[in-house]
Amino acid sequence: MKLIKQGKVRDLYSLSDRQLLFVASDRLSAYDVVFPDPVPGKGVVLTALTRWWLEQAKGLVPSHWAGNDQEQMRELVIAHPGALPSDLPERAMIVERCEVIPFECVVRGFAFGSYLKTHPEVKPMTSFETPLFTPSTKAEKGHDETVSFEAMRQALGETADTLKELSIRLFRFASGICAKAGIVLVDTKFEFGRDRGGTIRLIDECFTPDSSRFILKEDVERGVYDSFDKQIVRDYVDRIGWDRRPPAPRLPPEIVEKTIARYRAIQQRITGVRVS
Ligand SMILES: Nc1ncnc2c1ncn2[C@@H]1O[C@H](COP(=O)(O)OP(=O)(O)OP(=O)(O)O)[C@@H](O)[C@H]1O
Ligand SMILES: [Mg+2]
Repeated sequence: MKLIKQGKVRDLYSLSDRQLLFVASDRLSAYDVVFPDPVPGKGVVLTALTRWWLEQAKGLVPSHWAGNDQEQMRELVIAHPGALPSDLPERAMIVERCEVIPFECVVRGFAFGSYLKTHPEVKPMTSFETPLFTPSTKAEKGHDETVSFEAMRQALGETADTLKELSIRLFRFASGICAKAGIVLVDTKFEFGRDRGGTIRLIDECFTPDSSRFILKEDVERGVYDSFDKQIVRDYVDRIGWDRRPPAPRLPPEIVEKTIARYRAIQQRITGVRVS
């Protein structure tokens, strides 16, 4: 198996010139640094959510997921003993190899996170009537940087408009589903790519706690903005005064447990299914 890319969280293997094995590890990153302690079960949760959402959204946009990949992944585990995790079918997907469009398509339904840093005058959780599209560059190393839509348009031409429109449509669609589950989708990030035929596809993960900020509706209503993601880790490392430069500190077991509990809670509440 040829490992073609190791991201902060995922390992990508080449299966053929058309297909990749897209494996979600249990690695956790915060402030763009990977932690030495994994969060057991996280990759399975991310994969379950991504599959579920891609299935729901398939009428809106084609995705990179090849579908029907379980049997092939079981065969891969047997054919490459020791090289792949034994729970591969739960933590990986077989996807179409795409040329990644080098922008992160960030959509915000509410003012939160980095938006508040650049707009300190805005009250947290102010809702935007039309979701805001705030793209950023995909940095090879280090932090992604927010860019203007005009800059994205200069780089991509009309494709920028297509991605913006698709992103907002996907965000609205998912917000409706989350609302029914008692969850507020605050913001999210998509990646898009082009397949061999030039078709734009939704790639990477989507609507997971690593790519999105979810807050329970009941919490929002009482003004508590506790998001269901790695916020517990961020709060912990801020508390101990980590300077956000590598290496990342070890995580106490209770921080790891609370984090996976939050990932699982959001996954179960959205999909109604428990995984491992
Ligand atoms: N269908 C696809 N074809 C090619 N590359 C893909 C596809 N889907 C996702 N990717 C890429 O796979 C990588 C996923 O790995 P991971 O999420 O760990 O990366 P990351 O650390 O978030 O960030 P970076 O994008 O900077 O590598 C991303 O670089 C993403 O752009
Ligand atoms: Mg990623």
